Amino acid sequence: MLPIETDRLILRPLEVGDRDWLVALYAASGGSRDDAARELTEALEHERAHGYGHVVAELRDGGERVAVVELHRAGEGVVGIAPDEVEIGWLVAPAHRGVGVATEAARAVSGFALDQLGIEHLVAYVRPANAASRRVVEKIGMRRRGSGRSRSGAEVEIFELRRPVGRRRGVTPGRTPG
Ligand SMILES: CC(C)(COP(=O)(O)OP(=O)(O)OC[C@H]1O[C@@H](n2cnc3c(N)ncnc32)[C@H](O)[C@@H]1OP(=O)(O)O)[C@@H](O)C(=O)NCCC(=O)NCCS
Repeated sequence: MLPIETDRLILRPLEVGDRDWLVALYAASGGSRDDAARELTEALEHERAHGYGHVVAELRDGGERVAVVELHRAGEGVVGIAPDEVEIGWLVAPAHRGVGVATEAARAVSGFALDQLGIEHLVAYVRPANAASRRVVEKIGMRRRGSGRSRSGAEVEIFELRRPVGRRRGVTPGRTPG
């Protein structure tokens, strides 16, 4: 269960106290204060209802918050993803992009979801122009399963990740040995 430590990160649940940080993170990526506030409220409700939710990545060295990995039931609104499928997404603070934070956090959180939470599979959607996010889905082993439309109506590619056949539940993902 959380927190999980990876080589560079500590991954822990999103909390009410992350509000200002989340607003700033969304603003830096073109999102509004309302988007961030709604995301936080919905994520905390999801955590209460389902026992898991969004995950914050902090640097092990110094504790700065650098990313959020969104983990939630998709709900209505994305063409190509069923409401009860569990969606994963990621947002990294601009100053920390390009050094593998999204990949490291997404790999650990997806492993946690499949192995510890027992979720059968995860889905993600990516706009074709988002080359960085497309690389993240590939690097964590997601497979493209088709195309669809985002909640805002944009064309997206849909990816899926299933627990490898034969991998036991209960294996803790995280730091690479050695
Ligand atoms: C997408 C995002 C999460 C990537 O975060 P990141 O921490 O920079 O990603 P990583 O450093 O783990 O890089 C993953 C891969 O993408 C590549 N990459 C990073 N930026 C890239 C860019 N602008 N164009 C092409 N590839 C890029 C990296 O080189 C790496 O691939 P490699 O290992 O083969 O070299 C980050 O840019 C972000 O928060 N963007 C805004 C929000 C967003 O788009 N979220 C995803 C919605 S689906």
